[in-house]
Amino acid sequence: MRIDDLSLGRLRDLADVTILVAAASDAGIFQALHRAPASPTELSEALGFDERATRITLLALEEAGLLGRHGERFVLTERCARELGDPDAPDFAGRGLPHWLRSVRATTRLREVLERGGPLDPRPRARRPEHVRRFTAAMSAAPRARIERIVDLCLERRPDAETVLDLGGGPGHITRTFVAHGLRGTLLDTADIVTHVVPTYGIDEIEGLEAVAADFNRDPLPAGPFDVVLLSNVVHIYDAASVRALFAKAARVLSPGGVLAVAEFLRGRSSRAAHLGLQMLLKSARGDAYSEAEIRQWMREAGLVDDRVDALDEDRHIVTALRP
Ligand SMILES: C[S@@+](CC[C@H](N)C(=O)[O-])C[C@H]1O[C@@H](n2cnc3c(N)ncnc32)[C@H](O)[C@@H]1O
Repeated sequence: MRIDDLSLGRLRDLADVTILVAAASDAGIFQALHRAPASPTELSEALGFDERATRITLLALEEAGLLGRHGERFVLTERCARELGDPDAPDFAGRGLPHWLRSVRATTRLREVLERGGPLDPRPRARRPEHVRRFTAAMSAAPRARIERIVDLCLERRPDAETVLDLGGGPGHITRTFVAHGLRGTLLDTADIVTHVVPTYGIDEIEGLEAVAADFNRDPLPAGPFDVVLLSNVVHIYDAASVRALFAKAARVLSPGGVLAVAEFLRGRSSRAAHLGLQMLLKSARGDAYSEAEIRQWMREAGLVDDRVDALDEDRHIVTALRP
């Protein structure tokens, strides 16, 4: 992302207000005010917050143009209600914000990583339930148009596809879209994610969708064969050697003519790829953002042919290749 001619003072002010909005959203303030306009006293009582802290926070949100007032009560502006207050609104943007806040916190510790050369948490512990909840909520907030485009492009490459394996499928938002198009879907993710998403996102109620708890690096993949194997936002978590091994493994469970599809921010193509590389530097031992050329090369090394790249939106791409 380029800062172009925005002054550093302006950038700092925008960062201040963006972080405030995300933190207030994480604290539940917008959703509470969407349910009912409230005075600082009423809101602090409803959410179990300190009254003075609530009042000062509401005044800051009012100053930023997110809240208005009816008498003593604060109300959401129309835009704030749509984007931050109403979780059922199509424009609701609140789901990804808690995860984004964690990324901001990590970025403020860049110096530690620069000095040490490794991630902030060198020995990652098992993910806590709160982290799993926040992370899967952020993933499930992906815009519908992008998900539909992933499915459409995979089906364009393999029009008669009947089966899909979604590796690192998270909450299953993409797998279930394939299923809605008539395919049988297998969602594979780590046990902590699968245990959470199956009941939370109603995966067990969807006919034609199976969830498998496994580590795709260590465990055998479901035998398939699958007409589509998808890796969406997964490749950047690992180093090049692991990705090459994973492509080879995925290629072995593809049916002849089947498609391996990799959706990612691509270095050299996306204005957010370098930032993703930085986030991986902060949070993972081996992750990075990769270029189109690297991904195409690794697909060919896995024996796949006819590789091609398509845009998903202005920032993301999908690289596909076929098993001969
Ligand atoms: C950034 S999320 C992407 C989720 C989804 N594919 C999407 O595009 O929104 C990466 C997912 O890969 C899963 N994952 C990472 N390493 C894995 C592994 N070794 N085995 C299985 N799943 C893995 C994570 O648990 C997470 O759900």
